[in-house]
Amino acid sequence: MKLFLDTANVALIREIAAWGVLDGVTTNPSLIAREGRDFVQTIAEICDLIRGPVSAEVIAPDTEGMVREGKLLAGISEHVVVKVPLTPAGLGATRQLADAGIRCNVTLCFQPAQAILAARAGAAYISPFVGRLDDLGQDGMQVVRDIAAIYAKNPDIKTQVLAASIRTVAHVEAAALGGAHVATIPPKVFSAMVQHKLTDAGNEAFMADWAKTGITDVAAEVARWRAGR
Ligand code: G3P
Repeated sequence: MKLFLDTANVALIREIAAWGVLDGVTTNPSLIAREGRDFVQTIAEICDLIRGPVSAEVIAPDTEGMVREGKLLAGISEHVVVKVPLTPAGLGATRQLADAGIRCNVTLCFQPAQAILAARAGAAYISPFVGRLDDLGQDGMQVVRDIAAIYAKNPDIKTQVLAASIRTVAHVEAAALGGAHVATIPPKVFSAMVQHKLTDAGNEAFMADWAKTGITDVAAEVARWRAGR
């Protein structure tokens, strides 16, 4: 499963990109608005940072407007993936953009039937929103599993399942187990993924035991060993 970061905050993207684990970034109008920065400049900076798929969402309500905006957004960088909402207008725009060779991430998916439509429209990615279904007391991850199973039964479908609205580490793990090709993960969940109290305690114990050796400079130790060969 590939890991995308779900934010428009360039500083956080830079920080987590340094971990060497990022395959892409997703943004949406809310994430862009939250940063209060120039939209296009932000997308361009992210594309320079990540060198992978970067989702930028259209805001037009109609197919013609989405196609026009999508082509402009795709012109920012080869890494831009055009995000469109899963509406009739969005499906039409997805088809036209896909036919023009532009990748689309069809977002705001909440049931497998929508994902079937998105795949038939030529979507590169489908984004089922897990957390928002959980918020309604439904099993959001089951939608991810069902979409992955349906796509697997249709080899002509090349659309990738991009699990979104991820809220917890358990969501990430379940998405990987459930067959998602990608999970787009908020910065705080990335931090929770890497942190474990036993890791921190174990590292502290290793360093405490190591201190008893009196060795502080590994380079000098290697140099001494080489000199003695
Ligand atoms: O990628 C979609 C994501 O940003 C939505 O997350 O937590 O607002 O449902 P959330």
